[in-house]
Amino acid sequence: VTVYVPRDSAALSVGADQVAKELERAAARVGRPIRLIRNGSRGMLWLEPLVEVVTERGRVGYGPVESSRVGDLVAAGLFDGADHDLCQGVVDQLPWLREQTRLCFARVGVTDPLSPEDYLAHGGLLGLRRALELPAADVVAEVTESGLRGRGGAGFPAGIKWKTVADTPGPLKFVCCNADEGDSGTFADRMLMEGDPFTLIEGMTIAARAVGAQEGYIYIRSEYPDAVRTMRRAIDVARAEGWLGADILGSGLRFDLFVRVGAGAYICGEETAMLESLEGKRGMVRAKPPIPAITGLFGKPTVVNNVLTLASVPAILADGAAAYRDLGVERSRGTQVFQLAGNIARGGIFETAFGMNLRELIHRYGGGTLSGRPVRAVQVGGPLGAYLPESGLDLPLEYEAFVAAGAMLGHGGIVVFDDTVDMAAMARFAMEFCAEESCGKCTPCRVGAVRGVEVIDRIVAGQDPDGNLALLNDLCELMTEGSLCAMGGLTPMPVRSALLHFPDDFTAR
Ligand code: NAI
Ligand code: SF4
Repeated sequence: VTVYVPRDSAALSVGADQVAKELERAAARVGRPIRLIRNGSRGMLWLEPLVEVVTERGRVGYGPVESSRVGDLVAAGLFDGADHDLCQGVVDQLPWLREQTRLCFARVGVTDPLSPEDYLAHGGLLGLRRALELPAADVVAEVTESGLRGRGGAGFPAGIKWKTVADTPGPLKFVCCNADEGDSGTFADRMLMEGDPFTLIEGMTIAARAVGAQEGYIYIRSEYPDAVRTMRRAIDVARAEGWLGADILGSGLRFDLFVRVGAGAYICGEETAMLESLEGKRGMVRAKPPIPAITGLFGKPTVVNNVLTLASVPAILADGAAAYRDLGVERSRGTQVFQLAGNIARGGIFETAFGMNLRELIHRYGGGTLSGRPVRAVQVGGPLGAYLPESGLDLPLEYEAFVAAGAMLGHGGIVVFDDTVDMAAMARFAMEFCAEESCGKCTPCRVGAVRGVEVIDRIVAGQDPDGNLALLNDLCELMTEGSLCAMGGLTPMPVRSALLHFPDDFTAR
């Protein structure tokens, strides 16, 4: 019998390793040899650890499985896919998965993340093989035509960025993957790296082919030790398979990849601070221009893309730009990997074409709040994203619609709060976070965030509320207009949205 137990860190954090051990012991006890595969997570986090057993009907899932229940489950016929109160049925047929459009996450949770055979058996390398047959400029054109935009948050068209790098002459160019994933409520980069690392390697190799780069770096935050380990092992496997190195797939293409680990600073997710950190310096923001596409790592032309952007590329090359472009709405094409977090009954990964509204995602798929209380506020796009009130949940998940509503889609993280949330405290937290994480290079952010905390404290303490509210608005305007990067520039977004939608929370108590 083939049995899958995730090795994803979300599953590990709720005991997946113990479950795997217990399953092996129980199998030995009942004399049923099992082939245990440690897969990535399917992204249904409320079911972790989710054990899957291969049967004639398909992969039957059991979850959430505690190690103490493994004995019962095996006695009840788990290895034959028998019914049980933890049995979820055939996993692929669960509405949560069936109703998604998984392109970027197509293999996550399905395959053995470090098996090259499994990767090839599930469509791996089709994109790279096609990219190697096309002239480099056509690869760039394909990405441009697909409409793919940067999934790290800013949504800049990936093909245009690649073209800038491709058109900048130079003997040495780099591809850097931003896997610093610092936004609150986001975990898709991590799950992709732990669940399907070869896709990221393939996407980066296609980028290298397109722009003429020789070396790539994946910058992973230190809080992701499992992702670091998996990526490093995957790179070793890819080298051994001839998917990286001096003569990739016999095409003559030379490209190699290295993992670098951050040291715990949110600002190192800002692309220029990340480049400084990669160069071995303190993570300080560089003024732009020059943009990294022209003067990037060690001053060379550099593609800097988020994990999900690069991991979307293999499918685009394999299936063609039109197939990708056909999905989505307006200028938001293809799919986005949404991450449901916070006070939510069913948290996890939901990859779908742009255009679904927040209400459907949170209530129909996420099951509303975990506490069972009404939703009061939702923050989309990380700690610098706007807070939306319940009445704003009809907003379609699409870049421009969010901007028009004074919000941003960011990296697709969605954090839900119930009616016990204190929005003045959340606004204060935004300023406090900025004060803590500011790189210190420019005054509106370095000093403004500290003053922001103080002025919010005075407002809720009832000290000259009108005067201090005016001061807070003034400060927000200054930070928005005068900060060098998004850290200081966007911190006012959660503050202002909290003031706009939840003014009562700012009155003295
Ligand atoms: P940006 O708008 O300055 O730049 C977007 C990208 O386009 C950059 O890579 C820039 O170098 C590139 N670019 C701009 N003009 C170009 C041109 N003519 N040719 C080639 N490339 C060009 O935005 P920024 O500061 O990079 O990102 C801000 C966003 O980051 C925010 O919207 C936020 O959502 C997101 N963010 C994401 C986090 C995460 O954990 N994923 C954490 C914090 C913020
Ligand atoms: Fe540094 Fe903040 Fe200025 Fe960005 S806005 S450069 S983080 S001080």
